[in-house]
Amino acid sequence: MESANITVYGAGYVGLVTGACLAKSGHRVHLLDVDRAKLAALAEGRAPFFEPDLDATLASGIGSGRLTFAHPDDAEASDPDETAADRFVYVAVGTPSTPAGFADLRYVRDVMDRLEATAAAGTVVITKSTVPPGTGEPLAARLAKRGIGYVSNPEFLREGNAIGDWYHTDRIVLGGEPTHVERVAALYADIDAPIVRCGITSAELVKYASNAFLATKISFINEIASLCDVMGADVTRVARAVGMDRRIGEAFMHAGIGYGGSCFPKDTRALDFLSTVNGHDFHLLKAVIEVNARQRLLPVMALKRRLGSLEGSVVAVLGLAFKPDTDDTRESPAAEIIGLLLAEGARVRGHDPVGRLSIDDPHYVHAETLEEAVSGADAAIVATEWPQFAKADWTALAPVMTQSAIVFDGRNCLDPEAVRAEGLIYLGVGRG
Ligand code: UDX
Ligand code: UDX
Repeated sequence: MESANITVYGAGYVGLVTGACLAKSGHRVHLLDVDRAKLAALAEGRAPFFEPDLDATLASGIGSGRLTFAHPDDAEASDPDETAADRFVYVAVGTPSTPAGFADLRYVRDVMDRLEATAAAGTVVITKSTVPPGTGEPLAARLAKRGIGYVSNPEFLREGNAIGDWYHTDRIVLGGEPTHVERVAALYADIDAPIVRCGITSAELVKYASNAFLATKISFINEIASLCDVMGADVTRVARAVGMDRRIGEAFMHAGIGYGGSCFPKDTRALDFLSTVNGHDFHLLKAVIEVNARQRLLPVMALKRRLGSLEGSVVAVLGLAFKPDTDDTRESPAAEIIGLLLAEGARVRGHDPVGRLSIDDPHYVHAETLEEAVSGADAAIVATEWPQFAKADWTALAPVMTQSAIVFDGRNCLDPEAVRAEGLIYLGVGRG
């Protein structure tokens, strides 16, 4: 396709990666976000969060003049070329969880109201935000009255590998009327991936079903890990051998303190809520969520079993982000573990190569280095499998910890023997 004119609402992980990659493909992209601090960073060519390769992709878009940014309320927010024939608007604003567990759609609805009032006929609106199945059909009907198309195009990118996932996705899912779907498919001509064409509601459900299935794999292997602990088996071996069956697969079979992040916890809760509201009790999904909540308690339970009371104990929590290669701490297991430790009276030192938690508690300190975090610690909990922790030199670290300190490997990423060789107590998840 020749260069298209694209507006993207929301410069979060999804919107920014979408915008930057489409600009790199030669399209003209105008990114809108309500967060002025984000816009200020972007104006200087910096991504407002840590994501490998994103800065370079942004720089290429900005340098070519094809990638611009604005606040939706500012004059420059309107598309510089409103009359252009080929116009697309991506919606990638957040859809956070409400306290009750359903998806908060107010930001998506705000954008849709605005588009209904202002977008030119012939525009195609593409929803990347994760919205519950059933959300898009009525929106599409409203927009259709004004000659505006609607396509659901769920996003599957993983943080930490977002740019790679854009170009090497397993599939592109496009839900909507065939004429609109084909126009959107043409935008992805340079991506070598199969395109699944379906209805809007099916496309919406693909996203929830995919995330719920991956979360199920994680909770399943965590249940097997609990059994391994009781039976004296090693879940890392079990998972590897089970996953070698190609019908099962090795991915998402790492036992540990459970899944976090901006998607799995939110989307499993939302799917459970949606099922209940529509009269279906999704038993399996409820169990997945429950197992995940329990996994996060494991390190605290293990320390209490070993140390008795945690009052006054010094505990290092290594890894604050919800996974490596990101500074994102949304729903990170570490945040909950730290909260529990503090409630138990421990003094906690958090450390992460890039992530940071803002915890306002006199007994919490952010440590800038691994050494500083474990110095004088009675226990260290590895909450994220950063390579820096997996490769840590325990010969150097053990002497600065208290004698026979505990190392709880919440991601099974350490060599137990290397830790034990230094006189430390090694505890993993499902390693017998
Ligand atoms: C995306 C999807 O939108 C979400 O539905 C999905 O489940 C996960 O991926 P993400 O890009 O990770 O979310 O969200 P976030 O990083 O929070 O970014 C959303 C952006 O939208 C923020 O920059 C926020 O400032 C912006 N926003 C929000 C708007 O521009 N307008 C609004 O009205 C609300
Ligand atoms: C996820 C989906 O993978 C992606 O397709 C979707 O678009 C957004 O949600 P993301 O949240 O970036 O991506 O991270 P992911 O790599 O999937 O990990 C999610 C969580 O699961 C992390 O906390 C991770 O530590 C945990 N996890 C993952 C496990 O506990 N065990 C595993 O085997 C794999």
